[in-house]
Amino acid sequence: MADTSLQRDHVIDIRQVSTRFGKHVVHTDLSLTVDRSEIFALIGGSGSGKSTLLRELVLLQQPDSGSIRVLGEELTTMTDDAAAAWRQRLGVTFQHGGLFDALTVSENVGLPLREHTRLDKQLIDELAMAKLVMTGLSPDVGSQRPSELSGGMMKRVALARALVLDPELLFLDEPTAGLDPASADAIDELVLRMRDLFGITIFIVSHDLDLLWQVADRVAVLADGKVQGVGSMTELSQMAVPSIRQFFDGTRARAAQTQPHSRGAAPKAAMNGSASSKPK
Ligand SMILES: Nc1ncnc2c1ncn2[C@@H]1O[C@H](COP(=O)(O)OP(=O)(O)OP(=O)(O)O)[C@@H](O)[C@H]1O
Ligand SMILES: [Mg+2]
Repeated sequence: MADTSLQRDHVIDIRQVSTRFGKHVVHTDLSLTVDRSEIFALIGGSGSGKSTLLRELVLLQQPDSGSIRVLGEELTTMTDDAAAAWRQRLGVTFQHGGLFDALTVSENVGLPLREHTRLDKQLIDELAMAKLVMTGLSPDVGSQRPSELSGGMMKRVALARALVLDPELLFLDEPTAGLDPASADAIDELVLRMRDLFGITIFIVSHDLDLLWQVADRVAVLADGKVQGVGSMTELSQMAVPSIRQFFDGTRARAAQTQPHSRGAAPKAAMNGSASSKPK
Protein backbone atom coordinates (compact mmCIF):
# COMPACT_ATOMS: atom_id res chain seq x y z
CA MET A 1 0.00 0.00 0.00
CA ALA A 2 1.50 3.28 -1.09
CA ASP A 3 0.50 6.43 0.77
CA THR A 4 -0.71 5.86 4.32
CA SER A 5 -1.24 9.58 5.01
CA LEU A 6 -3.85 9.71 2.28
CA GLN A 7 -5.49 6.49 3.41
CA ARG A 8 -6.05 7.94 6.88
CA ASP A 9 -8.50 10.41 5.34
CA HIS A 10 -10.82 7.75 4.03
CA VAL A 11 -14.13 7.66 5.83
CA ILE A 12 -14.26 3.92 5.14
CA ASP A 13 -11.12 1.84 4.67
CA ILE A 14 -11.66 -1.90 4.24
CA ARG A 15 -8.52 -4.00 3.89
CA GLN A 16 -8.32 -7.66 3.01
CA VAL A 17 -11.56 -8.60 4.67
CA SER A 18 -12.60 -12.24 4.58
CA THR A 19 -15.97 -13.47 5.77
CA ARG A 20 -17.49 -16.91 5.76
CA PHE A 21 -20.53 -18.58 7.23
CA GLY A 22 -19.41 -22.13 8.00
CA LYS A 23 -17.94 -23.35 4.74
CA HIS A 24 -19.70 -20.72 2.68
CA VAL A 25 -17.13 -18.07 1.74
CA VAL A 26 -18.68 -14.63 1.23
CA HIS A 27 -15.71 -12.22 1.11
CA THR A 28 -12.10 -13.08 0.23
CA ASP A 29 -9.43 -10.42 0.86
CA LEU A 30 -11.88 -7.69 -0.05
CA SER A 31 -10.48 -4.13 -0.01
CA LEU A 32 -12.29 -0.86 -0.60
CA THR A 33 -12.08 2.81 0.38
CA VAL A 34 -14.68 5.57 0.48
CA ASP A 35 -13.83 9.28 0.62
CA ARG A 36 -15.47 11.99 2.70
CA SER A 37 -18.71 13.40 1.22
CA GLU A 38 -18.71 10.76 -1.45
CA ILE A 39 -21.86 8.96 -2.58
CA PHE A 40 -20.50 5.46 -2.95
CA ALA A 41 -22.54 2.49 -4.13
CA LEU A 42 -21.97 -1.24 -3.86
CA ILE A 43 -23.59 -3.50 -6.42
CA GLY A 44 -23.43 -7.22 -7.02
CA GLY A 45 -25.63 -10.23 -7.59
CA SER A 46 -28.02 -11.53 -4.98
CA GLY A 47 -26.06 -13.34 -2.27
CA SER A 48 -22.74 -11.74 -3.26
CA GLY A 49 -22.30 -10.38 0.28
CA LYS A 50 -23.38 -6.73 0.01
CA SER A 51 -25.63 -6.65 3.07
CA THR A 52 -23.10 -8.72 5.00
CA LEU A 53 -20.42 -6.12 4.25
CA LEU A 54 -22.77 -3.33 5.25
CA ARG A 55 -23.48 -5.11 8.55
CA GLU A 56 -19.75 -5.35 9.14
CA LEU A 57 -19.38 -1.64 8.44
CA VAL A 58 -21.90 -0.80 11.17
CA LEU A 59 -20.53 -3.29 13.74
CA LEU A 60 -23.44 -5.70 13.61
CA GLN A 61 -21.09 -8.41 12.46
CA GLN A 62 -17.33 -9.03 12.45
CA PRO A 63 -15.31 -10.36 9.52
CA ASP A 64 -13.19 -13.47 10.03
CA SER A 65 -10.04 -11.53 9.14
CA GLY A 66 -8.89 -8.20 7.78
CA SER A 67 -9.25 -4.61 8.89
CA ILE A 68 -12.22 -2.25 8.73
CA ARG A 69 -11.73 1.40 9.62
CA VAL A 70 -14.81 3.60 9.66
CA LEU A 71 -14.64 7.28 10.71
CA GLY A 72 -11.12 6.68 11.93
CA GLU A 73 -11.95 3.74 14.22
CA GLU A 74 -10.72 0.20 13.70
CA LEU A 75 -13.91 -1.82 14.11
CA THR A 76 -12.33 -5.23 14.55
CA THR A 77 -10.67 -4.23 17.84
CA MET A 78 -13.05 -1.55 19.10
CA THR A 79 -14.09 -1.44 22.78
CA ASP A 80 -17.80 -1.27 23.71
CA ASP A 81 -17.43 2.27 25.07
CA ALA A 82 -15.76 3.51 21.91
CA ALA A 83 -18.42 1.74 19.85
CA ALA A 84 -21.26 3.48 21.71
CA ALA A 85 -19.83 6.93 20.89
CA TRP A 86 -18.94 5.93 17.35
CA ARG A 87 -22.47 4.62 16.61
CA GLN A 88 -23.89 8.11 17.14
CA ARG A 89 -21.90 9.39 14.18
CA LEU A 90 -23.66 7.22 11.62
CA GLY A 91 -27.14 6.45 10.35
CA VAL A 92 -28.34 3.19 8.81
CA THR A 93 -31.38 1.96 6.93
CA PHE A 94 -31.77 -1.79 6.53
CA GLN A 95 -32.85 -3.79 3.50
CA HIS A 96 -35.84 -5.24 5.32
CA GLY A 97 -37.18 -2.13 7.03
CA GLY A 98 -36.28 -2.39 10.68
CA LEU A 99 -39.10 -0.15 11.91
CA PHE A 100 -40.92 -1.16 15.10
CA ASP A 101 -44.65 -1.49 14.73
CA ALA A 102 -45.21 -1.25 18.48
CA LEU A 103 -44.05 2.37 18.19
CA THR A 104 -45.55 5.28 16.28
CA VAL A 105 -43.65 6.67 13.30
CA SER A 106 -42.51 9.62 15.38
CA GLU A 107 -41.30 7.32 18.19
CA ASN A 108 -39.44 5.21 15.64
CA VAL A 109 -37.67 8.26 14.24
CA GLY A 110 -36.87 9.56 17.74
CA LEU A 111 -35.54 6.22 18.97
CA PRO A 112 -31.81 6.96 18.41
CA LEU A 113 -32.24 10.23 20.31
CA ARG A 114 -33.83 8.37 23.24
CA GLU A 115 -31.00 5.84 23.18
CA HIS A 116 -28.10 8.23 22.81
CA THR A 117 -29.13 11.56 24.35
CA ARG A 118 -30.87 12.88 27.46
CA LEU A 119 -33.13 15.25 25.56
CA ASP A 120 -36.68 15.50 26.87
CA LYS A 121 -39.59 13.89 25.08
CA GLN A 122 -40.98 17.10 23.62
CA LEU A 123 -37.68 18.08 22.05
CA ILE A 124 -37.18 14.55 20.72
CA ASP A 125 -40.65 14.67 19.15
CA GLU A 126 -39.86 18.02 17.54
CA LEU A 127 -36.55 16.81 16.15
CA ALA A 128 -38.20 13.64 14.85
CA MET A 129 -40.90 15.72 13.18
CA ALA A 130 -38.31 17.97 11.53
CA LYS A 131 -36.59 14.91 10.05
CA LEU A 132 -39.90 13.48 8.83
CA VAL A 133 -40.64 16.73 7.02
CA MET A 134 -37.11 16.77 5.62
CA THR A 135 -37.73 13.42 4.00
CA GLY A 136 -40.90 14.72 2.38
CA LEU A 137 -43.49 13.29 4.76
CA SER A 138 -46.36 15.21 6.26
CA PRO A 139 -46.18 15.78 10.04
CA ASP A 140 -49.46 13.86 10.63
CA VAL A 141 -47.68 10.67 9.58
CA GLY A 142 -45.87 10.91 12.94
CA SER A 143 -48.80 9.51 14.92
CA GLN A 144 -49.35 6.53 12.60
CA ARG A 145 -47.89 3.05 12.92
CA PRO A 146 -45.35 1.87 10.31
CA SER A 147 -47.74 -0.90 9.16
CA GLU A 148 -50.26 1.75 8.10
CA LEU A 149 -47.81 3.30 5.62
CA SER A 150 -47.01 2.58 1.97
CA GLY A 151 -43.63 1.08 1.10
CA GLY A 152 -42.34 4.44 -0.11
CA MET A 153 -43.41 6.17 3.08
CA MET A 154 -41.74 3.47 5.19
CA LYS A 155 -38.46 3.98 3.31
CA ARG A 156 -38.66 7.69 4.10
CA VAL A 157 -39.42 7.03 7.77
CA ALA A 158 -36.38 4.74 7.92
CA LEU A 159 -34.31 7.51 6.32
CA ALA A 160 -35.67 10.08 8.78
CA ARG A 161 -34.62 7.79 11.65
CA ALA A 162 -31.18 7.29 10.10
CA LEU A 163 -30.77 11.07 9.88
CA VAL A 164 -32.07 12.00 13.32
CA LEU A 165 -28.61 12.15 14.96
CA ASP A 166 -27.26 14.29 12.07
CA PRO A 167 -24.82 11.56 11.02
CA GLU A 168 -21.53 12.11 9.23
CA LEU A 169 -21.97 8.82 7.45
CA LEU A 170 -25.15 7.23 6.15
CA PHE A 171 -25.59 3.59 5.12
CA LEU A 172 -28.56 2.74 2.92
CA ASP A 173 -29.36 -0.86 1.99
CA GLU A 174 -31.60 -0.94 -1.10
CA PRO A 175 -33.22 2.46 -0.41
CA THR A 176 -35.42 2.39 -3.53
CA ALA A 177 -36.26 -1.33 -3.76
CA GLY A 178 -39.95 -1.91 -4.38
CA LEU A 179 -40.79 1.76 -4.84
CA ASP A 180 -42.83 3.31 -7.65
CA PRO A 181 -40.83 5.62 -9.97
CA ALA A 182 -41.95 8.86 -8.31
CA SER A 183 -41.03 7.63 -4.82
CA ALA A 184 -37.72 6.28 -6.08
CA ASP A 185 -36.94 9.61 -7.78
CA ALA A 186 -37.70 11.36 -4.50
CA ILE A 187 -35.20 9.14 -2.70
CA ASP A 188 -32.55 9.92 -5.37
CA GLU A 189 -33.13 13.60 -4.81
CA LEU A 190 -33.01 13.27 -1.04
CA VAL A 191 -29.73 11.36 -1.15
CA LEU A 192 -28.16 14.09 -3.29
CA ARG A 193 -29.49 16.81 -1.01
CA MET A 194 -28.14 15.12 2.12
CA ARG A 195 -24.69 15.09 0.63
CA ASP A 196 -24.84 18.53 -0.99
CA LEU A 197 -26.36 20.34 2.02
CA PHE A 198 -24.61 18.57 4.86
CA GLY A 199 -21.56 16.93 3.30
CA ILE A 200 -22.66 13.50 4.56
CA THR A 201 -20.75 10.51 3.20
CA ILE A 202 -23.31 8.05 1.83
CA PHE A 203 -22.73 4.33 1.27
CA ILE A 204 -25.52 2.70 -0.71
CA VAL A 205 -26.18 -0.94 -1.49
CA SER A 206 -28.50 -1.08 -4.47
CA HIS A 207 -29.61 -2.92 -7.57
CA ASP A 208 -31.35 0.19 -8.85
CA LEU A 209 -29.46 1.31 -11.97
CA ASP A 210 -31.36 4.59 -12.15
CA LEU A 211 -30.28 5.44 -8.63
CA LEU A 212 -26.70 4.50 -9.45
CA TRP A 213 -26.55 6.61 -12.60
CA GLN A 214 -28.16 9.58 -10.93
CA VAL A 215 -26.47 9.81 -7.56
CA ALA A 216 -23.38 7.61 -7.25
CA ASP A 217 -19.95 9.25 -7.55
CA ARG A 218 -18.31 5.83 -7.58
CA VAL A 219 -19.60 2.30 -7.67
CA ALA A 220 -17.92 -0.95 -6.65
CA VAL A 221 -18.97 -4.25 -8.19
CA LEU A 222 -18.85 -7.21 -5.80
CA ALA A 223 -18.58 -10.74 -7.20
CA ASP A 224 -16.79 -13.94 -6.19
CA GLY A 225 -15.98 -12.46 -2.79
CA LYS A 226 -13.99 -9.53 -4.17
CA VAL A 227 -14.39 -6.09 -5.65
CA GLN A 228 -14.19 -6.65 -9.41
CA GLY A 229 -13.97 -2.98 -10.31
CA VAL A 230 -14.53 0.50 -8.90
CA GLY A 231 -15.29 3.68 -10.79
CA SER A 232 -17.97 6.06 -11.95
CA MET A 233 -20.87 4.41 -13.75
CA THR A 234 -19.45 5.70 -17.02
CA GLU A 235 -16.07 4.15 -16.25
CA LEU A 236 -17.60 0.84 -15.15
CA SER A 237 -19.82 0.72 -18.22
CA GLN A 238 -16.66 0.70 -20.35
CA MET A 239 -14.91 -2.12 -18.47
CA ALA A 240 -14.68 -5.50 -20.15
CA VAL A 241 -14.77 -7.68 -17.00
CA PRO A 242 -17.70 -10.15 -17.44
CA SER A 243 -18.99 -9.80 -13.86
CA ILE A 244 -19.20 -6.04 -14.43
CA ARG A 245 -20.59 -6.26 -17.97
CA GLN A 246 -23.67 -8.12 -16.75
CA PHE A 247 -24.86 -4.93 -15.04
CA PHE A 248 -24.64 -2.92 -18.24
CA ASP A 249 -25.68 -5.27 -21.03
CA GLY A 250 -29.34 -6.06 -20.27
CA THR A 251 -32.33 -4.15 -21.62
CA ARG A 252 -33.07 -2.53 -18.27
CA ALA A 253 -29.43 -1.55 -17.88
CA ARG A 254 -29.41 0.16 -21.28
CA ALA A 255 -32.64 2.01 -20.51
CA ALA A 256 -31.21 3.36 -17.25
CA GLN A 257 -28.07 4.46 -19.06
CA THR A 258 -29.81 6.23 -21.92
CA GLN A 259 -32.31 8.03 -19.64
CA PRO A 260 -29.95 9.07 -16.90
CA HIS A 261 -31.94 11.96 -15.47
CA SER A 262 -35.33 10.55 -14.60
CA ARG A 263 -37.37 7.42 -14.27
CA GLY A 264 -40.05 9.30 -16.20
CA ALA A 265 -41.90 9.98 -12.97
CA ALA A 266 -44.05 12.88 -11.82
CA PRO A 267 -42.37 15.94 -10.27
CA LYS A 268 -41.26 15.50 -6.68
CA ALA A 269 -43.29 18.28 -5.11
CA ALA A 270 -43.23 16.72 -1.66
CA MET A 271 -39.45 16.91 -1.56
CA ASN A 272 -39.11 20.63 -2.12
CA GLY A 273 -38.07 23.28 0.32
CA SER A 274 -37.83 21.48 3.65
CA ALA A 275 -34.17 20.73 4.27
CA SER A 276 -33.57 23.64 6.55
CA SER A 277 -32.72 22.09 9.92
CA LYS A 278 -28.95 22.37 9.56
CA PRO A 279 -27.75 24.94 7.05
CA LYS A 280 -24.22 24.48 5.88
N1 LIG B 1 -26.22 -14.87 9.34
C1 LIG B 1 -25.97 -15.66 8.29
N2 LIG B 1 -25.78 -16.98 8.41
C2 LIG B 1 -25.49 -17.77 7.36
N3 LIG B 1 -25.37 -17.32 6.10
C3 LIG B 1 -25.56 -16.01 5.91
C4 LIG B 1 -25.87 -15.11 6.97
N4 LIG B 1 -25.99 -13.86 6.46
C5 LIG B 1 -25.78 -13.98 5.14
N5 LIG B 1 -25.52 -15.26 4.80
C6 LIG B 1 -25.20 -15.75 3.46
O1 LIG B 1 -24.18 -14.94 2.94
C7 LIG B 1 -24.39 -14.67 1.56
C8 LIG B 1 -24.42 -13.19 1.33
O2 LIG B 1 -25.61 -12.65 1.89
P1 LIG B 1 -25.97 -11.11 1.77
O3 LIG B 1 -27.26 -10.92 2.51
O4 LIG B 1 -24.80 -10.31 2.21
O5 LIG B 1 -26.17 -10.97 0.21
P2 LIG B 1 -26.58 -9.68 -0.65
O6 LIG B 1 -25.46 -9.42 -1.61
O7 LIG B 1 -26.97 -8.57 0.25
O8 LIG B 1 -27.84 -10.24 -1.47
P3 LIG B 1 -29.21 -9.51 -1.92
O9 LIG B 1 -28.89 -8.72 -3.15
O10 LIG B 1 -30.13 -10.66 -2.20
O11 LIG B 1 -29.69 -8.65 -0.78
C9 LIG B 1 -25.67 -15.40 1.19
O12 LIG B 1 -25.33 -16.62 0.61
C10 LIG B 1 -26.38 -15.58 2.52
O13 LIG B 1 -27.18 -16.74 2.50
MG1 LIG C 1 -28.75 -7.61 0.64
